[in-house]
Amino acid sequence: MNYEPVIEQLNEILKHEWTGVAQYSQASFIIEGVWREVYAEKFEDDAKESFGHAKLIGDKIVALGGVPVAQRNEIKQSRDLTEVLQNALAFESKAVEMYTKALELAEGDRALVVFLEDILVAEQEGVDEYTKLLRRSEAAGEAGARKSG
Ligand SMILES: [Fe+2]
Repeated sequence: MNYEPVIEQLNEILKHEWTGVAQYSQASFIIEGVWREVYAEKFEDDAKESFGHAKLIGDKIVALGGVPVAQRNEIKQSRDLTEVLQNALAFESKAVEMYTKALELAEGDRALVVFLEDILVAEQEGVDEYTKLLRRSEAAGEAGARKSG
């Protein structure tokens, strides 16, 4: 099996995970107001999850004979909580897309497929979680609009 294409995709994933470490850390630093109590820790946990995935992927790239990248992409940041949650949902959705593509390239190496599937499940949980959080915040927004209207 030629591992070059999958190593290349894993490096794109690694860049994305490093982006997550910075983006979620930044979100946890800058959140203020009453929601800080809830979200500072949630965003910090998500930064840790991204770091955990970066570690797994970096180690795997080396095991496959590749060189892990140390770059990341631009982060998205905002002081508006709904926008931060939307950015998080977009981030997690992109991760699902990227791991799905890596899985196609890993076809033929069962252990690598299982390894990537485990992380994919975690990424999908991120999508599910932020989807639900956004539903609630949209509902809260509507309730607020009704009250003032
Ligand atoms: Fe991840």
